[in-house]
Amino acid sequence: MSSLTLRQATILRGKNETLVDIKVVDGKIAEIGSLSAEGRVIDLDGLLVLPGVIDAHVHVREPGASHKEDFRSASEAALAGGVTAFLDMPNNNPPTTDHERLAEKRQLAAEKCLVNYGFFLGATPDNIQDLNAIENVPGIKVYLGSSTGNLLIDDLGDFASIVAETSKQLVLHAENEQLLRYFDRVHHDSAMHHLIRDNVAAAVSVAEASLLSGRFNKRIHIAHMSTKEEIDFLRAHKTPLTTCEVCPHHLFLDAEFFKEHRTYGKMNPPLRESASVDALWKGIEDGIVDIIATDHAPHTHDDKETDYWAAPCGVPGLESSLPLMFDAALNGRLDLARLQKIMSERPAEIYRMNGKGRIETGFDADLCVIDREGQTHLSNDTQRTRCKWTPFDGLSLKGKVVKTFVNGELKYDDGQIVSDVPACEIEFA
Ligand code: DOR
Ligand code: ZN
Repeated sequence: MSSLTLRQATILRGKNETLVDIKVVDGKIAEIGSLSAEGRVIDLDGLLVLPGVIDAHVHVREPGASHKEDFRSASEAALAGGVTAFLDMPNNNPPTTDHERLAEKRQLAAEKCLVNYGFFLGATPDNIQDLNAIENVPGIKVYLGSSTGNLLIDDLGDFASIVAETSKQLVLHAENEQLLRYFDRVHHDSAMHHLIRDNVAAAVSVAEASLLSGRFNKRIHIAHMSTKEEIDFLRAHKTPLTTCEVCPHHLFLDAEFFKEHRTYGKMNPPLRESASVDALWKGIEDGIVDIIATDHAPHTHDDKETDYWAAPCGVPGLESSLPLMFDAALNGRLDLARLQKIMSERPAEIYRMNGKGRIETGFDADLCVIDREGQTHLSNDTQRTRCKWTPFDGLSLKGKVVKTFVNGELKYDDGQIVSDVPACEIEFA
């Protein structure tokens, strides 16, 4: 039996902060209160402890493109960003569309992933029954618009049959492919990503998916919402079957960033005009947005140092997500209770992760310790992602992740990775 006591931790109870000791036994939170020290003792001196961030949208790139990222480099970036679990997307080369591909990923992660993990499966027009039979996955990813990789469901009838037949949570890349092609034709000469992938392509796709979800009584999760039009649609029509996420790059950057940085600001869906950015923040405030997820999509400098048309889409985000959101909280844009909810509690609820997302007795000791007085300097030079850049290069933020615990084990401490013990595949109920 291994035991650890975190003394003098500030945690949130509802909206209130309270000073407690946390006893961890065999990787789980055993007791919270005013406790006698037992086993290893770490004195936190009043530092804030949050449940570790759960990033439900990450592209690890292994297998197929481990020069961009692998499970070790992605999980080191995660630890530095206070992320204790992530869900990996299936658009690898080859894509994760069957049991064999999943088994391969499971083995790679088991050897070297330092944070807890789960794997989405990728829908094709004819694999849904096979995917239904696969156990312990958070859900099935459906690409309704084309992006990195070759997964695509661009026929609405094919999508309807996936919704009708699935027994799992669906996660949607919701951009209508026919409309993407139309706007590409119309705006081709502009080489402006947000015009070529117009807001309406995203909103129409969300509307179609939402109606099909209601028709077949199936749960859908809208990935990376980026537009005012999507928020407006969900404000009017969101049902208990629908959940949605927003990425930090869509909250902290806009189309002006793309104009200045071009390929480094190219991702799908695109950076939008400021009206959409404002609508996303309002969507968080009003409780329309369920979770923050990064869509961490590393591509190397070499990949990006080319023209607009040739460059792949995507930006890294694992390391900067909590620092950006925490700084926003300190600046009064959201309160810490909401931050904890949308970055840890709700992702665990939506994907039914046993024992995750809360600081409560019986839950896994996946924890992140933050020094509110500290500062985070985001810089290309210090990024742990293998792609070695961040769209937030040069930004200084209030607050600093100082320790990250995974399954009760201290893995990141004061800027260093201090344990290379692999973590676990998450259990999905
Ligand atoms: O920008 C993106 N990058 N959007 C996606 O849909 C895929 C991702 C990637 O895998 O590169
Ligand atoms: Zn993605």
